[in-house]
Amino acid sequence: MIKTGVIGHPIAHSKSPLIHNHWIAQYGLEGSYEALDIPPEDLTKRLPELLRDEGYAGFNLTIPHKEIAMDICDVIDDTARAIGAVNTVWIQDNQIHGTNTDAFGFMENLHTTSGIGAALILGAGGAAKAVIYGLLQAGVMDIRIANRTRSKAQALATDPRISVVDWDNREQALIGADLLVNTTALGMDGQPALDIALDNLAEGATVCDIVYAPLMTDLLIRAQRRGNAVITGIGMLLHQARPAFEKWYGVLPDVSPLLIEKLSSSGLTGGSK
Ligand code: ATR
Repeated sequence: MIKTGVIGHPIAHSKSPLIHNHWIAQYGLEGSYEALDIPPEDLTKRLPELLRDEGYAGFNLTIPHKEIAMDICDVIDDTARAIGAVNTVWIQDNQIHGTNTDAFGFMENLHTTSGIGAALILGAGGAAKAVIYGLLQAGVMDIRIANRTRSKAQALATDPRISVVDWDNREQALIGADLLVNTTALGMDGQPALDIALDNLAEGATVCDIVYAPLMTDLLIRAQRRGNAVITGIGMLLHQARPAFEKWYGVLPDVSPLLIEKLSSSGLTGGSK
């Protein structure tokens, strides 16, 4: 029996139990995946106890634990270090290992970067870090970041291929972009829509939203209407879960139409894992 789960605070709206328990059943494994609500001040004590004393094989970590977990892990891989956040942990030889699967999730969902010379990323939070890391790894040569708080975008511009654009100039930065990615919370249920006119965006450009509730955000609806290819956020949520599941259960699961259907009809709320 391999026990796993997701730890967050709050955690009630997490879709991860639905996804991982679907795979446990699909692959006929002896396992369980639970949602654990642990406040940030308790994580440093509780995470090692759960892994070392209470028989858990590993966890996903979500808001607000991804950064704190960096200090709890004994071993952190290059991806988590580059992104500055851990979203997956597992125990091996009594050592707590950490990685980050969000960049993998974003890139798998994007499917291909062929033809992407320039990308405009809106937002500079944790999700933006993973998106930018994935795009850099894939060889995208011109990455523009626009964020309401410019200093946060500046902090992510650690590579010569990255440039920072003022939030007020985000529409001009669409000129020549092959990809637009919204990593802000704007457009999520309960939040205002993202305010950006798409007139400067090329017809062949792709628009990707990492918000998945609603699935078709105002941004994606407007982009689709003018003929751009659109990518919803549900795929990133599903694909980031795959390498985590593989760490714990030894199987890299697939994203089947049945799972997408199950998730879509489960009443998507919130916007995080
Ligand atoms: P995540 O880890 O999901 O990326 P986060 O770290 O809280 O979440 O980042 C949220 C992003 O949405 C930030 O880039 C934030 O901009 P600031 O850095 O200026 O806070 C952006 N965001 C949230 N509300 C916004 C709004 N009303 N207008 C513009 N940007 C907003």
